[in-house]
Amino acid sequence: MRDRDFDHPEVVLCKDGPMLLRGATSVQDADGTVHPVQRPVVALCRCEKSSRLPWCDGTHKVIPKA
Ligand code: FES
Repeated sequence: MRDRDFDHPEVVLCKDGPMLLRGATSVQDADGTVHPVQRPVVALCRCEKSSRLPWCDGTHKVIPKA
């Protein structure tokens, strides 16, 4: 199967916030752990401060901007 034959999730990068994935079935983190996706849209943390990594928990909203 060629790469372009895969269904890819839609990706939206939120300014100063998470990465939204629509249509993903799983997410593999940097340690290799695979997290099944149960929802149509999930938010992945990009600030690395979430207490629920790899998912965004809203903590990015209280982080002072540099
Ligand atoms: S992006 Fe939301 S907690 Fe990190």
